[in-house]
Amino acid sequence: MNYRKLGNSGWDVSEVGFGGWALGGQWGGQDDNDSIAALNKAIDLGLNFIDTAEGYGNGRSERVIAGVLRERSEQVYVATKTPPKPGPWPPTPYCTVEARYPEDYLRANVETRLKNLGTDCLDVLQLHSWTRAFNRDPAPLEILRRLRQEGKLRLIGISTPEQDQNCVVDLMRRGYVDVIQIIYNLFEQEPAAEILPVARETGTGVIVRVVFDEGVLTGKYSKGHTFPADDFRSDYFAGDRLDRAADRVEEIRADVAEAGLSRDLTLAEVALKFVLAHPSVSTVIPGIRNARQAELNLSVSDRPDLPAALLAKLRRHNWLRGVWYAGK
Ligand SMILES: NC(=O)c1ccc[n+]([C@@H]2O[C@H](COP(=O)([O-])OP(=O)(O)OC[C@H]3O[C@@H](n4cnc5c(N)ncnc54)[C@H](OP(=O)(O)O)[C@@H]3O)[C@@H](O)[C@H]2O)c1
Repeated sequence: MNYRKLGNSGWDVSEVGFGGWALGGQWGGQDDNDSIAALNKAIDLGLNFIDTAEGYGNGRSERVIAGVLRERSEQVYVATKTPPKPGPWPPTPYCTVEARYPEDYLRANVETRLKNLGTDCLDVLQLHSWTRAFNRDPAPLEILRRLRQEGKLRLIGISTPEQDQNCVVDLMRRGYVDVIQIIYNLFEQEPAAEILPVARETGTGVIVRVVFDEGVLTGKYSKGHTFPADDFRSDYFAGDRLDRAADRVEEIRADVAEAGLSRDLTLAEVALKFVLAHPSVSTVIPGIRNARQAELNLSVSDRPDLPAALLAKLRRHNWLRGVWYAGK
C-alpha cells in the first residue's frame, strides 16, 4: 500500500481508503458481518483511512466502524460528516447558514458523531453539503474552528454538492478547509480544471468519492440491469440512465483492450488508477461491501501505473451529463 500526504495535515493516509456508505444499509441488504470482515481485511492490507457519515444508516456505518476499530491497534483515521439541518438537499441558493448549520445544532451533532465513533476527538469532520450562497459568510466553518480549538476535532472538511463542486475553491483559497471530498472519476473529470490544481497550491487534502460512478464503472452492470427498490441506485439509475452509462463503459473497455491491457487490468482497476494518477489526490475511497472487494480495491495500490498514452486517451470519457439526482 502506498501512502500520501493528506494536504498539510502531516498525516500519511493510504492512497486507497474505505467508502463506508453501503455499511449503513441504503444499498440494499448489508450484513454487518460482511462489513466487519471488509473493514478488518482492509486494515490487514494497510488501509488507514475510512469515510463515513451520520447519513449512512443514521449512524449505523459509524457504529460498525467504531466496533472494528475498538478491536484493532493500528492508527486508522476516520472522516465523518454532519448533514445540514433538514431542508432541501443539496442546500439551495436561498438557504441560510443560520437555518441549516446553526451553532447549537453543529455542537450537538458533533457530540453524536463522537459518541457513535467512540472517541473524544474526531479526526476529520466534513460538512456533508454546501451551497455557494454560504461562501459570503462561512459561519459554520468558524464554529468548526472553535470546536477544533476545544479539542473536539482535528481537520475541517466539506463534501462538495455535486451540481457545483467548484463552490469550495473560494474556501480553499481562504484557508477555511483542511480537506475537501469531491467526485472525480472517468465520467466526471471537471475537477482537473480547477479544484485539483487549487488543492495543490493551497495544501488542501483531497478525498475522492464515487470512483466507480456507484458501481457502473467496474463494468459489472450491463444494459437492462435493475437494482432492488431498497438500493438507492434504483433511483440513481432510473429510466435509461444505466443503459446510457453501460454503453459508455463499453467504450472505456474498448480503449483498454486497444492498449493491449484487457488481460492485465480489470475496469475497476482502471477506474482507480485513473484517479490515483492525479498528484493532487490524497486518497480515493471506493465503496467496499465485503472482504473480497476490500482485497480487489486495495491491491490496486501495488499495481503499475496506467501507461501515459492510455491515461491521455481516457480523458475522452469525460461526460458532461449534468447531474443525476436521486429520484428525478
Ligand atoms: N455526498 C457525499 O459526501 C458522498 C456521496 C457519495 C459517496 N460518498 C462516499 O464515497 C464513498 C464511495 O462512493 P460510493 O460508495 O457511493 O460509490 P462507488 O465507490 O462509486 O461504488 C461503490 C460500489 O461499487 C461496488 N464495488 C466496489 N468495489 C468493487 C469491485 N472491485 N468490483 C466490482 N464492484 C465493486 C460495490 O457495490 P455493489 O457490489 O453492490 O455493486 C460498492 O458499494 C461512499 O461509500 C461514501 O463514503 C460521499
